[in-house]
Parts: sequence; C-alpha cells; structure tokens
Amino acid sequence: MNAKRKRTEREPAPVPIALPKGRLLPTLLRYMESCGFRFDFEDRKLVAQDGEGVFNAFLVKNSDLPTYVNHGIAALGICGSDVIYESGHRFFTLLTFSFGRTTMCLAGKRELGDAADRRRMSVATKFTRFTQDHFHMRGIPVQIIKLDGSVELAPVLGLAPYIVDLVETGNTLKANDLTVIEKLKEIEVHLIANPSYYKLHYERIDWIVERLREKS
Ligand code: PRP
Repeated sequence: MNAKRKRTEREPAPVPIALPKGRLLPTLLRYMESCGFRFDFEDRKLVAQDGEGVFNAFLVKNSDLPTYVNHGIAALGICGSDVIYESGHRFFTLLTFSFGRTTMCLAGKRELGDAADRRRMSVATKFTRFTQDHFHMRGIPVQIIKLDGSVELAPVLGLAPYIVDLVETGNTLKANDLTVIEKLKEIEVHLIANPSYYKLHYERIDWIVERLREKS
C-alpha cells in the first residue's frame, strides 16, 4: 500500500514522470525499485507515488508517452528511441539504460530472401515515420501501410510482403514463419525530459538522474 505522505512546506512537489504500460514496465519498475523508488500501481490505478514522494508516476500507452512529456504534463518519461523518433518531438535525453534494448528490423516471409525486389517496397508497420525516413534516405520508394499492432499478420495474410517492426527474442517472427531480412536500427530505452521543465528545475532533475544512473 502506498500511503500518501504529507509534504512539509519546504519539500519540493513530486516530479511527474510518465512510464510506459507495455512489456517494458515490469523491468522498469524493478529497476526503479533498485534505485530506491518503489511504486505500487494497485487495482488498475494508473497513478502512484513512490514512498519518498520524489515522483508522481503515471502509466500511459507507449506511443502516447512523448505527448505527455511534450506538453509538460510529465516532466520526465522513460521510453524507447523508436517511440521518441515517431513522435517527432525534441526532448533532452538524460540517461540511456542497458535494459529494454531491441532492434528495428525489416522482416518478411522466408522465401523472399535476398532475391526480393527492393526497388519499390510495400511495408506494413506501426513505425511510419521511421520507415518513411529510412527508405527515403536510401532512395527506395516505399508504400507504407499503417497498422497499430500484430504487424506480423500482414505478410501472412497478404496485406504487404514486408514489415518494419521491433524484434526482441524473434519468437513472434518465428511463430509466424517470418524472418529478419535486415537489421535497420538498434533501439535503446532513455530517460527524457521536457526541455522547459528541465531548465527551470535542473538541480532537482540532476539529483534524480544521479539516483537513476546505472551503477556499474
Ligand atoms: C512487439 C513487436 C513484435 C514483438 C516482438 O509487439 O511489435 O510484434 O513485440 O517481440 P519478440 O521478438 O520478442 O517476439 P508487442 O508485443 O509490443 O505487441 P503489438 O503486436 O500489439 O505491437
């Protein structure tokens, strides 16, 4: 139970931080706890404070996280570079963590192999900005089909021969008889800050960054 502590007048207000609801969350909460910040999101509650009252944390959908930080509703956020890039917003990157690393890959049916015609590509993906920019930079015309999840279904059902998606264990691709055709980018998890909030509260944020920095 996260009993709400009463703040004394001289204690600074908790810093609002957005955390992603997805598969990263259990690892992230364990990591925060190892740094002394324990959160109990009980009964499907989406907001919780740590025992010290340093943070007011709220759980948001991964792709919404940059919006909260961009609008200053969250001073800080923790999410992958994929999500940051898709948002198109600029943040201060304060830390890069060693957990949660994945790879953005071009994938498709095994039989496409190297013989595939990549002069004009049809790609299903959640990551439209990344995909557009990536193939544009390589001078390859690309038709993008936007999906919000279960992207691996697209080649299976014939919606598009290719997908651009995150690959972590590779199990989802394997289970759907797909394979990585090309690794496009390593994705890392960052602590980001709203630039205006950081400029106003840098001493407190820097103190938090030191607490969250990996000790290795
Ligand atoms: C992600 C990603 C892949 C899968 C890869 O999806 O988009 O589908 O994980 O993981 P793996 O290589 O370990 O199998 P997520 O589970 O977040 O759900 P989604 O399909 O709804 O996007």
